[in-house]
Amino acid sequence: SPSDPDLVERARAAKEKLGSKVFVLGHHYQRDEVIQFADVTGDSFKLARDAAARPEAEYIVFCGVHFMAESADILTSDDQKVVLPDLAAGCSMADMATAEQVAECWDVLTEAGIAEQVVPVSYMNSSADIKAFTGKHGGTICTSSNAKRALDWAFEQGEKVLFLPDQHLGRNTAVRDMGMSLEDCVVYNPHKPNGGLTAEQLRAAKMILWRGHCSVHGRFSLDSVNDVRERIPGVNVLVHPECKHEVVAAADYVGSTEYIIKALEAAPAGSKWAIGTELNLVRRLANRFAPEGKEIVFLDKTVCFCSTMNRIDLPHLVWALESLAEGNLVNRIEVDKETEAFAKLALERMLALP
Ligand code: 13P
Ligand code: SF4
Repeated sequence: SPSDPDLVERARAAKEKLGSKVFVLGHHYQRDEVIQFADVTGDSFKLARDAAARPEAEYIVFCGVHFMAESADILTSDDQKVVLPDLAAGCSMADMATAEQVAECWDVLTEAGIAEQVVPVSYMNSSADIKAFTGKHGGTICTSSNAKRALDWAFEQGEKVLFLPDQHLGRNTAVRDMGMSLEDCVVYNPHKPNGGLTAEQLRAAKMILWRGHCSVHGRFSLDSVNDVRERIPGVNVLVHPECKHEVVAAADYVGSTEYIIKALEAAPAGSKWAIGTELNLVRRLANRFAPEGKEIVFLDKTVCFCSTMNRIDLPHLVWALESLAEGNLVNRIEVDKETEAFAKLALERMLALP
């Protein structure tokens, strides 16, 4: 839907008034009405890298979800303030691993006698607490664009990986990119005693996958892939690695949001694509590439927006920008110093991956 012209003008005016004091970052899943005001757009990796790109900006307005704003706070200087236009913009996947649960899991691994062999690798989509746990135990963060490199690095440090919190990204990377088998992976369920696993199972596993998933990508199914192939002969199926293993295994291409955009930019005119990722991005790409004769459809019409990404809308962005322009610091995301130090260690290991 087209954005309200009055709100567009107010956002523009507030941004102009703030000038170089504000830096607006926008994740690819954001609404069109919001993304038009982003100084930089990107996938989770690019936004983490670029968060520190404007040291002169006093305010970093993060149009994305809570864990991204936390990461931006961790990676920027103490006097830069990160603002999330709606504090309710969380991520259900990140919420699936709490600090208490992960500490308990580490106890289980210690009991089984394997903790010294385990290197934690945590997906960016996790709270600062989980990132700090990861840093403290010698691990790294990864995103969907560098998960293989993170796992290569981790298996140089130890024999096993505890992968948090997205079981699908962990399994897909291990099996699709690293040549492991499904039997090399076990799933740790934080709601069951000992994760629902025996010490023998833990000792035999190479990948210990946390039982978390993305509620949006988890809804694409093998039927979605089979149906679209039947409906659109010659279609290329391109999905995000947060999709289930059977979906990824049946797809033609797999990658992060930035990868998806690059693949469509490089695609020849006349090609047909079914995309399995969040709807705001797929719609934007369908509109952008239609004039070039590239047909882009959503992989499954029953899957909808990421509701928390969508919480950042133009009214919230206008409110945040106008408040900052009036000197009111609202919705600041600030990670405490101790958590920040260990989380930063883990994030810097990711940024240093070859
Ligand atoms: P990327 O943009 O890194 O592909 O991540 C997708 C996502 O789910 C962010 O929440
Ligand atoms: Fe979280 Fe999934 Fe939404 Fe990304 S798309 S923010 S992983 S719920």
